[in-house]
Amino acid sequence: MDRIYLCLAHMSGNEQRYIQEAFDTNWVVPLGPNVDAFERNLETFVNENGSLDKKVVALSAGTAAIHLGLIMLGVGKGDEVICQSFTFAASANPIIYQGATPVFVDSEPDTYNMDPQLLEEAIKDRIKKTGKKPKAIIPVYLYGMPAKIDEIMEVARHYEIPVLEDAAEGFGSRYNGQTCGTFGDFGVMSFNGNKMITTSGGGALICPTEEAKKRVMFYATQAREPFPYYQHEKIGYNYRMSNICAGIGRGQMTVADEHVKHHQWVHEQYVRQLGDIEGLVVHSAPEAKMDPNYWLTTVRFEDAKHTINDELLPFVDKLNAANIETRPLWKPMHLQPVYKDAPAYTNGVSERLFSCGLCLPSGPYVGEREIDYITRNIVENL
Ligand SMILES: Cc1ncc(COP(=O)(O)O)c(C=O)c1O
Repeated sequence: MDRIYLCLAHMSGNEQRYIQEAFDTNWVVPLGPNVDAFERNLETFVNENGSLDKKVVALSAGTAAIHLGLIMLGVGKGDEVICQSFTFAASANPIIYQGATPVFVDSEPDTYNMDPQLLEEAIKDRIKKTGKKPKAIIPVYLYGMPAKIDEIMEVARHYEIPVLEDAAEGFGSRYNGQTCGTFGDFGVMSFNGNKMITTSGGGALICPTEEAKKRVMFYATQAREPFPYYQHEKIGYNYRMSNICAGIGRGQMTVADEHVKHHQWVHEQYVRQLGDIEGLVVHSAPEAKMDPNYWLTTVRFEDAKHTINDELLPFVDKLNAANIETRPLWKPMHLQPVYKDAPAYTNGVSERLFSCGLCLPSGPYVGEREIDYITRNIVENL
């Protein structure tokens, strides 16, 4: 069996046409027809039920989108920003870029995402301790699982704190039929090589209005003021997406729905093959209104021995030896040495998940044969 990876890029075959067009017309720059068309494709995708009118800016990375989202929300030195602890470092690092302090909030056990009750406790406590409200809230759609976004938004509205949704892993996930990343003030997408669709590297910021989109584009292109010479009144960034990468994105959008369906199919197969094994839980949507993209299917062990300090990593090694890539779930930010001094509101959920959870191969090259092989190896090595 060839090596089976967690998730690899999968081309539709249309990408080359758009890239060739960029070369033929010499649009080999970080703007151009592919960028414009890709943004329109993304806007159609996120506004799909027609009730929304969100705007999208294509950027060089999801991390850049988080950074610009924070800038748009006015986050600066001395501010605090609440961030889901159970996530990849890129959700939190841009808070530091802005000179602000992350305040980490733990997850609830149903979706593995931000616990709305703990969020409220954290907000109250920060107000008590610092005398001011956190400046923004960053919930995450980890592994594509929708967060309890209704409840999170309710808390956020109550305290009038804006929400920046990190939907880097949640491309095409829905909550109540609405695309994840469109509930808050801003939403983040990632098109890194391992994501649901890719532009090799890239991201996008979902914006509430055309005016906000223009402002994001301004910051993403070095904050050049509209003068006939170079005039700068703000600090800007070089975060726009290249017209070549956007060509890949346009090709990927022709198969985006198929990609999402495939990941959902893979999850169904894991549930079918592993769902009855005692002590092993395949994570699935806890409520019918949650429609995850299942970017990566994850499992967690409920026995005492498959933990990070015991049998979990040897188990990963055994699957590795069988050419199957698996990986422990994200190590929570409040356990990361680099964030050891950041305030954290914890309940043990993310620590437990980090200790006993694994991501399984879920990408486009995982078919029936691979599922049989992976699940057989999991069972044999338990
Ligand atoms: C949860 C999460 N947030 C943010 C990012 C950052 O996206 P990018 O790699 O496009 O910068 C990623 C992925 O890399 C991610 O998984």
